[in-house]
Amino acid sequence: MLEELLPAAVAVAEAFGDVPEAALFPAEAAAIAGASDRRRREFASARSCAHTALRRLGLPAAPIVPGPRREPLWPDGVTGSLTHCAGYRAAAVARAADVLALGIDAEPHADLPAGVLAAVAGPDERAALAALAADSPGRCWDRLLFCAKEAVYKTWYPLTGRWLGFADAAVTIGQADGTFTARLLVPGPDLDGTPLTGFSGRWLIRDGLILAAIAIPAAAVADLPPG
Ligand SMILES: CC(C)(COP(=O)(O)OP(=O)(O)OC[C@H]1O[C@@H](n2cnc3c(N)ncnc32)[C@H](O)[C@@H]1OP(=O)(O)O)[C@@H](O)C(=O)NCCC(=O)NCCS
Repeated sequence: MLEELLPAAVAVAEAFGDVPEAALFPAEAAAIAGASDRRRREFASARSCAHTALRRLGLPAAPIVPGPRREPLWPDGVTGSLTHCAGYRAAAVARAADVLALGIDAEPHADLPAGVLAAVAGPDERAALAALAADSPGRCWDRLLFCAKEAVYKTWYPLTGRWLGFADAAVTIGQADGTFTARLLVPGPDLDGTPLTGFSGRWLIRDGLILAAIAIPAAAVADLPPG
């Protein structure tokens, strides 16, 4: 499903549950030693997806260990993102020459727990969610907003090495076309002399899951007008 949301230069691997045969490199096993069984299984299954996705790119599988802020550390020349939620694990990877940064997120298609929306969405975003719910009931628009914001953070962090809070970007969901945009409310990084002001992404809801994905093509940056 995830490949539907990403450009062809991105290799994707996904699993609808744990990967029973998931094998870790020693550095990956060391990084997750001592974690709970549930955490080890999701970590290993996501790594199995990452190894498969790297091979689909024509590259050898390599250890993907977490960095200091939990960000996955990709081999030189590769960018990527991981996600896992109940019943789903996925990796998306691309050559850095093709894709500058990408972020993926998966969530169960269920309403956010009580109280979470207030921490995730500003007043304008909440008003837009109410309008979406009135127009198109039966979809968990609040969880979709959350999912899109997680994808924004996973795209932002490798570009900046900085925290981005839920109030630091305003997300607008396109109801009909499976797209979303995120407008940065804090200064973004300079990309070839032009400040990044936001992100465009795509989403889908299917089989009890919500997926959101963002990819910034390297060509889009090369084409930016000088700042
Ligand atoms: C880090 C975070 C986005 C993870 O999302 P999640 O829905 O809890 O979990 P997911 O399973 O989808 O993703 C987990 C994966 O995200 C990746 N991840 C974690 N921190 C990351 C970071 N700083 N940068 C990029 N990717 C990161 C990791 O690969 C992790 O999997 P792993 O621990 O097995 O390696 C979330 O916990 C968080 O801190 N959110 C607050 C920041 C935010 O969302 N801001 C909104 C900006 S508008």
